[in-house]
Amino acid sequence: MNTDEFRKYGHQVIDWVADYLENIEQYPVKSQINPGDIAATLPRLAPEKGESFDRLLVDVEEKILPGITHWQHPNFHAYFNANVSYASILAELITAAIGAQCMIWETSPAATELEERVMEWLINMTGLPKSWDGVIQDTASTGTLVSILTAREKVTRFNINNRGFSNQKLRIYCSAQTHSSIDKSVKIAGIGLDNLVKIPVDAQMALRPHLLEEAIQFDLASGKIPCCIITTLGTTGTTAMDPLEAIADIGAKYNIWHHVDAAYVGAAFVLPEYKHFLKGIEKADTYLFNPHKWMFTNFDCTAYFVKDKDSLIQTFEILPEYLKTNTRGKVNDYRDWGIPLGRRFRALKLWFVIREYGASGIRRKIKEHIELAAWLEQQVIKHPDFEMVVDRVMSLVVFRCIKYPNLKQNNAINTHILNAINMSGKAYITHTKVNEQYVLRVVTGQTHIQKLHVEKLWKLIQQFAQEYKTISPKK
Ligand SMILES: Cc1ncc(COP(=O)(O)O)c(C=O)c1O
Repeated sequence: MNTDEFRKYGHQVIDWVADYLENIEQYPVKSQINPGDIAATLPRLAPEKGESFDRLLVDVEEKILPGITHWQHPNFHAYFNANVSYASILAELITAAIGAQCMIWETSPAATELEERVMEWLINMTGLPKSWDGVIQDTASTGTLVSILTAREKVTRFNINNRGFSNQKLRIYCSAQTHSSIDKSVKIAGIGLDNLVKIPVDAQMALRPHLLEEAIQFDLASGKIPCCIITTLGTTGTTAMDPLEAIADIGAKYNIWHHVDAAYVGAAFVLPEYKHFLKGIEKADTYLFNPHKWMFTNFDCTAYFVKDKDSLIQTFEILPEYLKTNTRGKVNDYRDWGIPLGRRFRALKLWFVIREYGASGIRRKIKEHIELAAWLEQQVIKHPDFEMVVDRVMSLVVFRCIKYPNLKQNNAINTHILNAINMSGKAYITHTKVNEQYVLRVVTGQTHIQKLHVEKLWKLIQQFAQEYKTISPKK
């Protein structure tokens, strides 16, 4: 492809993107294909001769789109969102064109210095301690792994990096509702799942601090080494908020590293009414949230903040001859702030999003999303056949149909509602289990969601609940 063709196809692709996003509601939200359907349309061997770009665009429509689940559809209510926005998409295009690999300051000073600045903006916008430093990681999973590795090194005086484990019994504490990425990090960090202590939760699915303290005391008495506590603000199942301040006090009392995972809800701390959830954050050590979930920034982009950057750098620093520079020590070389050496220029899309929306625009959008969840919550509360399972905190509504007298039948009808909605292609929701109850999760955080989308979903939910009665009168 030459420059003229690139220009021509570039315009065509931008038009395609605009049309796709404008008309996204014509697609089934969840891909309706079966395993292997897409693979069957793809040749086994790579083409020997280059093909025309026109053909590629046709194949995107014909072969790829049927196998896409449309995360940008306003009726995508599953998991947590992975939102995009126009500003972010355009920034991704520029980032792709620049193609800089931003491992150290010298390989693109603007990338490092812009990253420093947008992290400072996020500290101010969301009310984090002003003395902390920020860095962009690819995902929350990586961010948590980085924190646990730093904790591991700190508590062993940076010995495991050099000598490996001997027979230290390091212990990690989190709630029973913590995201599975914590289990994964504990496995990767060599600490072992047997040393991940899952603390029971209360009726709102939040960690119970006095049980955390008991677990720590028990471990200390049996010669184990408390290494890291993880607080979740906004658990994946129900957006439960672990009581940060009480946990932070325990962390401080026993001098234990404390990581806070606010992957989804962290974006909502731009709103003053939610900042109280961060009370005690200054006593923690690290904190993260995902602009790629609810701050309209394309995946991947995790904002990771650290109180003591020296421990972080000491954990990850490597200095082969070819990476020695004259600026070392005078600037931030972000390769030492995480796992990979090579780094994408992720700050640009965040910069575009924050500037194009403005802080007030981001606040307004997140507030609207929360109001939509509040509306749905009211419908659930008013309806005799439905109940809220836990209190709604922000933009996730966790509820179930309770038409029947027992758990088994209610689990069956809720499973039916979920499958029927997802197979209809009209909306996409997911479930979780709360005390053996199969419950429905509806997230109202998609960039372009409006009230009409939540109204449509609520109608579908009632329709499929009603239909279940007629299909299975005896159940
Ligand atoms: C609370 C929480 N932490 C971590 C993660 C993992 O996020 P990522 O995909 O960025 O690794 C999720 C994903 O939904 C989450 O809900």
